[in-house]
Amino acid sequence: MDQAEKLRNIIKQNNEALPARPLARVITVTSGKGGVGKSNTAINLAIQFRKMGQRVIILDADFGLANIEIMFGTVPKHNLCDLIYQGKNIKDIITWGPHDVGFISGGSGISGMYNLSREYLEYIIVNLAELDAIADTIIVDTGAGIGGAVLEFLVASGEIILVMTPEPTSITDSYSLLKALKQSPRFSGENTVIKVLANRVNSDTDGHALFNKLNPVVAKYLKLPISYLGAIPYDPQLERSVMQQTPVSIQYPNARSAKAFEQIAARLNRKEGAVVEVKKRGMAAFFSHIITGRKLDEAGA
Ligand SMILES: Nc1ncnc2c1ncn2[C@@H]1O[C@H](COP(=O)(O)OP(=O)(O)OP(=O)(O)O)[C@@H](O)[C@H]1O
Ligand SMILES: [Mg+2]
Repeated sequence: MDQAEKLRNIIKQNNEALPARPLARVITVTSGKGGVGKSNTAINLAIQFRKMGQRVIILDADFGLANIEIMFGTVPKHNLCDLIYQGKNIKDIITWGPHDVGFISGGSGISGMYNLSREYLEYIIVNLAELDAIADTIIVDTGAGIGGAVLEFLVASGEIILVMTPEPTSITDSYSLLKALKQSPRFSGENTVIKVLANRVNSDTDGHALFNKLNPVVAKYLKLPISYLGAIPYDPQLERSVMQQTPVSIQYPNARSAKAFEQIAARLNRKEGAVVEVKKRGMAAFFSHIITGRKLDEAGA
């Protein structure tokens, strides 16, 4: 039995043991280009979801820079590596930040997951499945670009928020990212919803205009449905809040950007009638997809 098959069995057994287990909604925030506002989006949506009474955990999967923790103003004591190598429990590696938003630092944990024994994998999956009971929504903050790790997260995601800004390079980089995603062997268009967030724009009209530059090319050349989620205005108060290491939604709750995040969070919570209903897959399935995918890729499948 190969690693991927072992893992599928673990997930299956885990699901059968707990049939009525609630599953968390996993939203992955990404962008084609760096520095466009992913981490601010992740953290402010988390705060807004909390204000609506949801339990939220952010997973910082951007291994290069410790983004979220800087914005939280809190340095987490542990990361995903400690779960794997130090035998910590998932609850031990969650740092609780402002407004009780949970935060898990990925560290280099995920890249080290691929060659673990069955016992280790079982331990991780069982622990990650616990997140489904702790959180209603898990927001994953990824790095920018089409590097392997980012694509793995995106392929595993049911729901993707693609952040873009008005710079021309942001449009071409967003297109490149979507193209790489579409070409990814395990990508399933049917099981993925891609929502575009226009950041640092002057108005919602400008946000729409930005989306309308990307959408036709994506529809024509990639045949990938994407939808417009909304716009976050350029806001000096957001810049200031970053310097103050407090999310704008807390520091300046009435700021233009904070209000926009509030609206976007409300929109994400609404059932959208005709629009594809997002299937909740839960955290264990999310990770198993990442791990088994790597194994299958390595096997040339
Ligand atoms: N709506 C906005 N108004 C004004 N400034 C903004 C806005 N959004 C982001 N910024 C600025 O852009 C900077 C980068 O934002 P952020 O760290 O969220 O981007 P990122 O996409 O996570 O970056 P990276 O790719 O490095 O992880 C912020 O520090 C802030 O100064
Ligand atoms: Mg970031």
